[in-house]
Amino acid sequence: MRMMKITGAALVLMSSTAIVHADNVEVLHWWTSGGEAAALNVLKGDLEGQGVGWTDMPVAGGGGSDAMTVLRARVTAGDPPTAVQMLGFSIQDWAAEGALANLNGLAEEQGWADVVPAALQQFSTFEGNWVSAPVNVHSTNWVWANSAIMAELGLEQPGSWDEFVAAMEAAEAAGYTALAHGGQAWQDATIFDSMVMGVGGPDFYQAAMVDLDPEALGSEQMVEAFQRMETLRGFVDDNFSGRDWNLASAMVANGEALFQIMGDWAKGEFIAAGQTAGEEFQCFRVPGTEGTVTFNSDQFAMFNVTDDASMASQMAMASAVMSPEFQVAFNTVKGSVPARTDISDAEFDACGQLGMAQLADAAANGGLFGSMAHGHANNPSVQNAMYDVITAHFNGEFDAATAAEEMVTAVELAM
Ligand code: GAL
Repeated sequence: MRMMKITGAALVLMSSTAIVHADNVEVLHWWTSGGEAAALNVLKGDLEGQGVGWTDMPVAGGGGSDAMTVLRARVTAGDPPTAVQMLGFSIQDWAAEGALANLNGLAEEQGWADVVPAALQQFSTFEGNWVSAPVNVHSTNWVWANSAIMAELGLEQPGSWDEFVAAMEAAEAAGYTALAHGGQAWQDATIFDSMVMGVGGPDFYQAAMVDLDPEALGSEQMVEAFQRMETLRGFVDDNFSGRDWNLASAMVANGEALFQIMGDWAKGEFIAAGQTAGEEFQCFRVPGTEGTVTFNSDQFAMFNVTDDASMASQMAMASAVMSPEFQVAFNTVKGSVPARTDISDAEFDACGQLGMAQLADAAANGGLFGSMAHGHANNPSVQNAMYDVITAHFNGEFDAATAAEEMVTAVELAM
């Protein structure tokens, strides 16, 4: 029987015969942009300070699809990494396969159940057992705007879809790229989440993206969501295809583009470029989605390992991730907000404070929904089926009415 103990330094596992020290973690993740790497360094530094080494296993690609493909190959080869960045339903799938370590001992000792919000616990726990440690809460229905262009064009933050479109028209007329976007399936899906919410509101988002109700998927509202995607498509520049999201963020940061619709990891890029929320850049909710938050939470799941030193390292990492000090240090750099409800917003910038308040408000008022694009609304196979339709439509393969019909069929086949 093992006991866990947090010491001043690394966490150690004490078996009846020996004390085992944490030594090293191999971490699979997709945090490869400037802002993401800066945030990851906070975690690396924390663990190194405890004497736990770090073997890096980065797999580039926002949203993590490529990372999940690599993970599957590693596990199939019988060589899982010790810790893996994971989202929502993927965590549940791996837990159902029995691949994840049980973190209950640590979770109980540190009282995770009292501080991790229910919306995250539904992904961090499987059949009542803790299987992952949540690092953050990101929300995806944000617009990032260049303040200098806003001022030059006399623009206020738009309060409606029509005002949003008018602002983009003004930017285009002045020679700017109106909407910085990267044509990758997960980025198209990220903006689509907000179009669905903006057109249909919370009940519709729930019916279409979470409950996968065929009537909602094929409805007039879904057609309208696709029409809004066409409007957005009209405002991206000619070189959007395949562009990484952080390069789109850079277009806003360096004054080439007015807006980017993206999760708040984009803020990490502005911060890494030395900019300040409310000054060089600003944030507001995608018009039509105010009062709601579509979220995703990066979590670290620990794969089953057998040697005591690796297990001790996993517990050291999970413990570090859940510490209140780490949650502040990491999330102020990453652009996300804490995965614990007991953290003060004092250290967060204007967008972070707004994000924390809106998250709490949405959670209290039925406005908090998992992001489809980031694995928190439905399982990976449905998510990928939706990606295919959304991206094919964005690239002109279908008109809006056909795309809505395709959603019904694609989801039915994937379920
Ligand atoms: C998300 C992830 C974020 C951010 C983003 C872009 O899926 O949750 O932490 O890294 O992808 O890479």
